[in-house]
Amino acid sequence: MAFSENKIDVLKKIKASKSFEDLEKLRLYYLGKKGLIPEALKGLGSLSIEEKKSKGQELNIIKKEFEEGIKNQRTEIENIEISNRINLESIDVTLPPNISEKGKIHPISQTIFNIIEIFGNLNYAVETGPDIETDFNNFTALNIPEHHPAREMQDTFYVQDNGDKNVLRTHTSPVQVRTMLNTKPPIKIIVPGRTYRSDSDATHAPMFHQVEGLVIDTSSTMVDLKSTLVSFLEEFFEVKNLQYRFRPSYFPFTEPSAEMDVAYTKVNNKIKIGEGDKWLEILGCGMVNPIVLDNCNIDSKQYQGFAFGMGIERLSMLKYGITDLRSFFDPNYRWLDHYGFSILDNQTRSGL
Ligand code: PHE
Repeated sequence: MAFSENKIDVLKKIKASKSFEDLEKLRLYYLGKKGLIPEALKGLGSLSIEEKKSKGQELNIIKKEFEEGIKNQRTEIENIEISNRINLESIDVTLPPNISEKGKIHPISQTIFNIIEIFGNLNYAVETGPDIETDFNNFTALNIPEHHPAREMQDTFYVQDNGDKNVLRTHTSPVQVRTMLNTKPPIKIIVPGRTYRSDSDATHAPMFHQVEGLVIDTSSTMVDLKSTLVSFLEEFFEVKNLQYRFRPSYFPFTEPSAEMDVAYTKVNNKIKIGEGDKWLEILGCGMVNPIVLDNCNIDSKQYQGFAFGMGIERLSMLKYGITDLRSFFDPNYRWLDHYGFSILDNQTRSGL
């Protein structure tokens, strides 16, 4: 059987096919085992040797051109499919986020955002520092010399690191030292972050969070410290006329030092902060010890200021009615689903 179709027309049909199926149909029709070209090649047997040669050559060229055309068209269809898929799967980044119902903001993160927001409005900058600290930053510069009992008070985790004496920071206060060594006053910072002590029970975890505050200038006093802390706590706990008291205390890095208690009542077994006849210790604070200023190359004759530090888990437990500290660190989705926050709760946050 001779092949009588117009080669150009067939090539056009190949080029016009829009799917792999159409292309495969054409391939089978012309080039398949029983296709027109192999059949025509078989039919050459009855011809003379010369004719066989010239017709055979002609058919083989047509076969090659068809194969080539099909191969090119396959690539063409592939490219079209890929670009269609890219168009379909493209993401419009200007659309509002698709907030998943799973996944919540952890109460500790929420509390930190909340603290930053309140102090941000009071013009405090946020500083951070590393979890592994030098002995100097964590203790010595803060007026806690070697063999001082305050070192034992803090149940320190020591880290062996190239022979240097390093620790997992036991408080956020070493970031005071870092900041004072690197910045000229006035300084007005808060430092939220992880801290570590070798201690574990219902109210203590080996890793926990603190937020530190430090103000250094030429005029800040204990009065400024008090009013700052009172307005922070009133805003954080959403109470007016917070009842509080300052008790004299001791920290090597502040002088004088105090601890602040807030009044509370229990309503239906839940703690309500603000007023009542019971007291709850909430933070430590004081005027920065001049020895610390001098250790950090700040002239204690010219500058003064205050510092405070509080536990973030504590604040979070009191605000959200969480009773066991350890639950913060359990990978328990149902707990997080209950106590966690939706991303939309934080719409007012900027840059975090
Ligand atoms: N660093 C102290 C602690 O961890 C808290 C504190 C900070 C006290 C700043 C006074 C001033 O217990």
